[in-house]
Amino acid sequence: MRKNKQQTMFVCRECGYETIKWLGKCPECNSWNSFIETKTSFEVDKTKPFRITDFSSEVLPLNQISDASVSKRILTHITEFDRIMGGGIVPGSIILLGGEPGIGKSTLMLQVADKIITSCLKDNQEIKVLYVSGEESVQQVKLRAQRLNINNDKIFVVSETSIERITEIVENLSVDVLILDSIQTLYSEYIPNTQGSIPQVRGVTAEVIKFAKGKNITVFILGHVTKEGDIAGPRLLEHMVDTVLYFESETMQNYRILRVYKNRFGPTSEIGVFEMTSLGLKEIPNPSELFVEHHTNRVGTVTTCILEGTRPILTQIQSLVTKSYFPQPRRVVSGIDYNRAILLISVLEKFAGITLMYEDVYLNIISGLKTKETAIDLAICVAIFSAHKNLEVDSNTVYLGEVGLTGEVRPISFLNERLNEIVKLGYKKIFIPKLADRIVAQRKDCEIFIIETIKEIEKIV
Ligand code: TYD
Ligand code: MG
Repeated sequence: MRKNKQQTMFVCRECGYETIKWLGKCPECNSWNSFIETKTSFEVDKTKPFRITDFSSEVLPLNQISDASVSKRILTHITEFDRIMGGGIVPGSIILLGGEPGIGKSTLMLQVADKIITSCLKDNQEIKVLYVSGEESVQQVKLRAQRLNINNDKIFVVSETSIERITEIVENLSVDVLILDSIQTLYSEYIPNTQGSIPQVRGVTAEVIKFAKGKNITVFILGHVTKEGDIAGPRLLEHMVDTVLYFESETMQNYRILRVYKNRFGPTSEIGVFEMTSLGLKEIPNPSELFVEHHTNRVGTVTTCILEGTRPILTQIQSLVTKSYFPQPRRVVSGIDYNRAILLISVLEKFAGITLMYEDVYLNIISGLKTKETAIDLAICVAIFSAHKNLEVDSNTVYLGEVGLTGEVRPISFLNERLNEIVKLGYKKIFIPKLADRIVAQRKDCEIFIIETIKEIEKIV
């Protein structure tokens, strides 16, 4: 007889990568110290078929499949949110909303729930929303709702963590929209691991998807992005759901950016900007004003666009160039690769005709971002040049380009995606490397200037 050996695996809590041995760094998502030991074999209730989706297995020719359920989207009339969703929520879809604790996920969901109901009522459709709070009591949810001025009799609230109980409630109430806040607090009785562990989070999600797809229930799954502890991150679930949204806060404290990373029913390059006020989240329909208005031209401050993963993020490079009192001038760099900065300083000396050997150079990326991207080379050069010459740089101009050892400005990856983000945030003047005649011809929404070599830097600052 074969003995059933209890085996363990190590699973990355950030992205779900599995290995047999413990690893310090995940080869998949590059997170450090993210591997957690998990049991691979556990008792599964054989009476319950474990399938992720529960569609009918009827075989149909493509042209005979009804598109009724996909066609009518639910609008929240929160313009930023509808845009993110690709023009409203597709009924029966599963949406994952990730974000750090305290960023405003619960607040956003409560506001969205309220808007969905009102919007459906206008179409003479009555829908019910069930808000499952696994981390707060119903009184706490009520307090938040009062603060947001929401008093809707179609939002039902329950403080519950057992997924079996939750599906029962959903069935009894015949709920149309289900909000799970948060997935890490829920558990299934059929999975022996602890709440928030990788098998639990995955298993509960699979159970919810199976259940909701069969009944055409729209589900919002909220997930905390955590860097520490044994709590599985929402990234583990990205492949299982239809839409992945992340709520983030960048440089500015009260502003929140909602980004879509994946959407089976719409584009993934949208961002929505909100402001957290004392009355909840307020959408900022025209974020460009927000980002551009506050900007003033400064010496040594240059706007550019970096890529975080596949996401373009607008940021600024700052440089300070001062007389050095050291035998060897100082090069202090933060957020940028040190060796890259040294190289660019040499390129500037050689091709832009400036001397930096008696000056200290400080370089920094605003907002504490870090990047090794070479696409910001040009912006770094412009920042140093401007700081050295004491020239103001137009903050409404964006500089993109890699700089080569012979001073040539080289093409960069994802240029179109970056341009989209730049234009979306209201910037119109953009310097890019020569290459992209095709892209330039296509773009009517911004003014594009070509820079070929660093020798032209004087002209462009
Ligand atoms: P919350 O939605 O609870 O965040 P999450 O669910 O992502 O953990 O929001 C938490 C923060 O938002 C909290 O610090 C208080 C603040 N807040 C406001 O500033 N105004 C409001 O109207 C509400 C409801 C919350
Ligand atoms: Mg919350």
